[in-house]
Amino acid sequence: MTAVLIASELRQLLPADPVPGHRVEWLAADEPTPSGSYAAILPLLSRRIGPAELDRLPDLQIVANCAVGYDNIDLEAAAERGVTVTNTPDVLTDATADLTWALILAVARRLKEGEALLAEDRWEGWHPRQLLGLELRDSTLGVVGAGRIGQAVAHRAVGFGMRILYADSEARPGLEGATGAERAELPDLLARSDVVTVHVPSSPQTRGMFGQEEFARMRPGALFVNTARGDLVNETALLDALDRGHLGGAGLDVFSEEPNVPEGLVRHPRVMALPHLGSATTRTREAMAALAARNVQAVLAGLAPLTPVAPR
Ligand code: GLV
Repeated sequence: MTAVLIASELRQLLPADPVPGHRVEWLAADEPTPSGSYAAILPLLSRRIGPAELDRLPDLQIVANCAVGYDNIDLEAAAERGVTVTNTPDVLTDATADLTWALILAVARRLKEGEALLAEDRWEGWHPRQLLGLELRDSTLGVVGAGRIGQAVAHRAVGFGMRILYADSEARPGLEGATGAERAELPDLLARSDVVTVHVPSSPQTRGMFGQEEFARMRPGALFVNTARGDLVNETALLDALDRGHLGGAGLDVFSEEPNVPEGLVRHPRVMALPHLGSATTRTREAMAALAARNVQAVLAGLAPLTPVAPR
């Protein structure tokens, strides 16, 4: 019976025998990746799987990442060793788009500052100019990356009466037809959007793509939301743009060095920061774990993976 490694944090989300016919060894997130003759590993997004880890697992057939993002895995190193890599697309699209909207609404309407007024017993009563925020209707949403999640975020914007711009390497005629979205180059999108929301994968090409120059291009008072990956953003430049009052606020679900989060961002009154909750609903997390397990089962049975990812 071959053995498979599965992140132990997924145990409650999976059936008792998640990969029938194979022996499961549960691996906690804080344990290093072991050496051994494992046929599959089903890791969390926090586990780096690079050449060193792959070399310790010579019989590995599949890395079934329990995430849609796969920047924790060295795809080239896996391909060189004949190891299949899979992710969990689709099943988390709605949950992540919903969470993105939770952040957009929270930052646009200054919920953190409002909540603090009450929690700190500083509220003196209704005031016509208290905590005035951004009215979403007739404002412009700039969606950077119009893949599954970016598109789901854009679809939700129609209900709020927003104009939609998107920046993507591909034209998305379906999205344009359904939402009236207009494709724009990134600098143009940044200059024209009241809310910028990021939905691109982290890769060597996109890492650090939001820095001083990009924030300077954004409209004074504009809002920045990131539910993709923290390393897309230069967090020092973001904090500087907020501190100078150039940006009106930020909603952040992801950070460069998770779980370490820059204090200046967390404490900032105009920043709503969350601990990477994008896909955190029971249904979605169960679906992610199940899809990852189905990928393992398929590959170990000699079948094609359901949701493979390959180096570009
Ligand atoms: C979460 O961030 C994911 O990539 O699934």
